[in-house]
Amino acid sequence: MESFLIKGGVPLHGEVTISGSKNAALPIMAAALLTDEPCVIRQVPALSDTRFMARILQSLGATVKFERGTLTIHARKLRGHGDYELVRQMRGSVCIMGPLLGRLKKARVSLPGGCVIGARPINLHLKGFEALGAKIEIEGGYVSATAKKLNGATMFLGGRAGSTVLGTANVMMAATLAGGVTVIESAACEPEVVDLAKFLNAMGAKIAGAGSPTITITGVKKLRGAEHEVIPDRIETATYAIAAAATNGEVTLKGARAEHLRAVIDKLEEAGVRVERRGANLLVRRNGRLKAVDVTTLPYPGFPTDAQAQMMSLLALAPGISIITERIFESRFMHVSELARLGADIEIEGPSAIVKGGRPLSGAPVMASDLRASAALVIAGLAAKGVTQVNRVYHIDRGYENIDGKLRQLGARIQRVEET
Ligand code: EPU
Repeated sequence: MESFLIKGGVPLHGEVTISGSKNAALPIMAAALLTDEPCVIRQVPALSDTRFMARILQSLGATVKFERGTLTIHARKLRGHGDYELVRQMRGSVCIMGPLLGRLKKARVSLPGGCVIGARPINLHLKGFEALGAKIEIEGGYVSATAKKLNGATMFLGGRAGSTVLGTANVMMAATLAGGVTVIESAACEPEVVDLAKFLNAMGAKIAGAGSPTITITGVKKLRGAEHEVIPDRIETATYAIAAAATNGEVTLKGARAEHLRAVIDKLEEAGVRVERRGANLLVRRNGRLKAVDVTTLPYPGFPTDAQAQMMSLLALAPGISIITERIFESRFMHVSELARLGADIEIEGPSAIVKGGRPLSGAPVMASDLRASAALVIAGLAAKGVTQVNRVYHIDRGYENIDGKLRQLGARIQRVEET
């Protein structure tokens, strides 16, 4: 297993190019299963998660070619069964269910379990499939959805934490090939859902309202191959912006989309960070001393849960008390105990973390527990005095393209080494 060795205390300076969005790319890759014609998807980040999704598509009978960020997927023939063991290993792959159900009228996948960030049920995905007329069965760890014919329906997909991103994506994909009109109420408004709808419409689907809580899908008989360019990753953008602020540096985020990051930019500015739009780029630097702020994660356009851990590392450096409340995933605080090893003073009270910021951080060996927690530890390590060793960086390679290379380009002293 690999680790990062980080010599902290160096302000990040320079330019970094933002990669394509992981969470947009994964369902878009799955959507290519809806047609027997080839699809070309550009700006796909080279990550272990996208490579894993490619393997799942291959196991279902698709041919997949990945060349310098461009994926060509051709699902001329589609098997209703594949290596579903793979699905269990990556939760995001549950979004193959909607396309399989749409095209083959049957889908069977291993039931994704919980993960370190919370329970992660799929009841809302299944509720949506049922509303379209599918029969759901759960047996032996597998969930299957089957239908003679899918029929458009009006459904409410809100759950205990608000909308569901992949649930909305899954039902939207299945409904493209259903008969009649489907209306999803309380749909997720995330930019990744909008990007998926754009790709589906390029394939010939009729989707209106993506980006709002009501999405209307008029079913069509067949979808065709299409080309698409994935949006820039807003969470990668937020991560580098926070890293720039945490190290008191000055970084240009090339290709970043400010309109997808309003809540993050708002909180960064409140915390004493300047974020300026420069054409197609964003320039991030500190505006004097950091300030404590309160942050609550919410579905889009609220503050993203996927940037909560990284923000906590920044607020650990801001003098005063910040309260960070996690409203999407109940146990997404695995980074707290690791940040404590670097000297951060953070207490968990129910869904909130109380960050007593401003104590100096100093390097220590820490363990990455999930993707965003790992990013938070890298940021804290970059800001801390001395050497931080972040173990189990395979978590970070799931979602950040060449993070160590990109950080080195910004002047960070970070090395990838074999774990000792
Ligand atoms: N939920 C239900 N029932 C469902 C589905 C979700 O109760 O059927 C609950 C979840 O337990 C959670 C909330 O609804 O409390 C929101 O979960 P959502 O379904 O929106 O999450 P997701 O679609 O499984 C995607 C991202 C996550 C990101 C969340 C929230 C992908 C591949 N994953 O997951 O990304 O945290 O949306 O924005 O798009 C990450 O990139 O690190 C990551 C975990």
